[in-house]
Amino acid sequence: MKNEMLNDLEKVLFDEAQIAERIAKVATEIDRDYAGKKPIMIAVLKGSVMFYTDLMKKMNIMAEMDFMAISSYGNETKSSGEVKMIKDLDRCIEGRHIVIVEDIVDTGYTLNYLKATLSTRNPASIKVCSLLNKKERREVNVEPDYVCFEVGNEFVVGYGLDYAQFYRNLPVIGVLKKEVYSL
Ligand code: PRP
Repeated sequence: MKNEMLNDLEKVLFDEAQIAERIAKVATEIDRDYAGKKPIMIAVLKGSVMFYTDLMKKMNIMAEMDFMAISSYGNETKSSGEVKMIKDLDRCIEGRHIVIVEDIVDTGYTLNYLKATLSTRNPASIKVCSLLNKKERREVNVEPDYVCFEVGNEFVVGYGLDYAQFYRNLPVIGVLKKEVYSL
């Protein structure tokens, strides 16, 4: 199954069952924290798509879905914090509880930008739910409120996360072999 992509992994960090188990737990936490609050769940395209749809399906509370897309200008510019919005939300978030859903928080610049931008629109609250948290690489002081897995400073792909736009459709999360990206 998916051998071509699996062969490019040095190791699998989290398999489908482990991912599903953590998502179910996080969905329960969000259900509990947002009972009666009808939050707007915001997916940040494209990396969060797999996580977002599985998380939403596990949640039992009433919640809206909306989508944002962000582009970075390559790593150099990104580490200076310069990110640009390429797709904004469809609706007003004033007075609403919002949860930003990310696949990974790495340096933190993207999340910092998102939180700063969205907070100017006066939502009732902003929280962040991330599939992965790569704390070691953090450059700005921003933390997700809900995390499925902590990861080290390794090149992780799969389940939404890409290398050069590929590997997003792997159902597992793994570490990419060095020879694949250093060719
Ligand atoms: C990834 C990821 C986060 C961001 C995290 O997005 O989805 O949005 O990088 O990195 P940071 O904490 O260093 O800012 P990417 O720009 O790769 O786009 P993608 O979601 O389309 O893969």
